[in-house]
Amino acid sequence: MRTPQVDRAEGMPERVRIYEVGVRDGLQNEENIVPVDVKAEFVRRLEAAGVETIETTSFVSPTWVPQLADAAELLTALGESARGRNRPVLVPNEKGLDRALEAGVGAIAIFGSATEAFAAKNLNATVDGQFDMFGPVAKRAKDEGLWVRAYVSMCFGDPWEGDVAPDQVVSVARRLMDLGCDELSIGDTIGVGTAGQVESVLDGLVEAGISLDTIAVHFHDTYGQALPNTLTALRKGVTIVDSSAGGLGGCPYAKSATGNLATEDLLWALHGLGIETGIDLPAMVGTSMWMSEQLGKPPASAVVKALGAPA
Ligand code: HMG
Ligand code: MG
Repeated sequence: MRTPQVDRAEGMPERVRIYEVGVRDGLQNEENIVPVDVKAEFVRRLEAAGVETIETTSFVSPTWVPQLADAAELLTALGESARGRNRPVLVPNEKGLDRALEAGVGAIAIFGSATEAFAAKNLNATVDGQFDMFGPVAKRAKDEGLWVRAYVSMCFGDPWEGDVAPDQVVSVARRLMDLGCDELSIGDTIGVGTAGQVESVLDGLVEAGISLDTIAVHFHDTYGQALPNTLTALRKGVTIVDSSAGGLGGCPYAKSATGNLATEDLLWALHGLGIETGIDLPAMVGTSMWMSEQLGKPPASAVVKALGAPA
């Protein structure tokens, strides 16, 4: 299988930690329920490809996200390997935390919104009110020794409110990190952001005292900006990038959201720059080809399409 020609560029990190969201963000939006054994096999194939960090599922309301109602079953099917600090699950409230703790997780992610509209649509809360949910969750999770990530959604534009000011993002991010979270992921939920915005938001976060080594970028690829925006973030000093196998993804509560940055497209760019990821590109392509057969639809990723096609 073809590999990218390697040429290092200045100002880029030596290594990037890829935070794989295909199993959670990728599948949450699928209408047809994916069987739990297929989800478990997906995780195992990602592990075999060398992916260290995999967000496996969400302990959210099964009425809100029926696709992930099998969260506890999936963790049972995966066994001990799903319980580490590198296998976070989404948790919105204490009910979700109870379920996650019962399943024995080692890491969770809370997920806030920078905008009122999305807080209402996704969490049935206000921007202020979401902290009433997340505060006790983060505190209890830290007391239990869990690793905690905080997402902020709609950091670069919102389908209902339009433009989003960087200050608004920074204020929500700061409040989430003040709950004691270990990592922050800034989400372009609907994939509209451009590189200058990425710089402004990152500058704002750093000014607010959030260290770059705790910041991840989470770009959906609706307008084809996910990869250029990621490279901009790397030049600014970010080293954690969220992506999804094959470019799966979307948010059931923001219809204009499409798939995340594809892990394979990211790997092609990073490996071409000589940046270590620990992930085997051909094995990832094989995994996404397999998953696309399971879902009965072609992969979104340009690299999977190019490398998966007969020579
Ligand atoms: P609500 O309806 O206000 O909740 O939803 P409630 O507290 O009134 O409870 C309603 C019912 O749900 C009750 O059951 C609860 O027990 C149950 P009933 O008494 O009617 O039988 N319930 C739960 N059941 C299981 N697990 C739970 C749970 N919580 C309540 N955790 C709530 C509020 C937060 C629960 C709801 O809005 C929700 O689940 N939202 C999650 C939506 C979601 O998962 N969205 C996608 C993830 S976010 C995303 O994709 C963005 C991201 O990728 C970053 C980016 O791209 O920007 C992270
Ligand atoms: Mg997302």
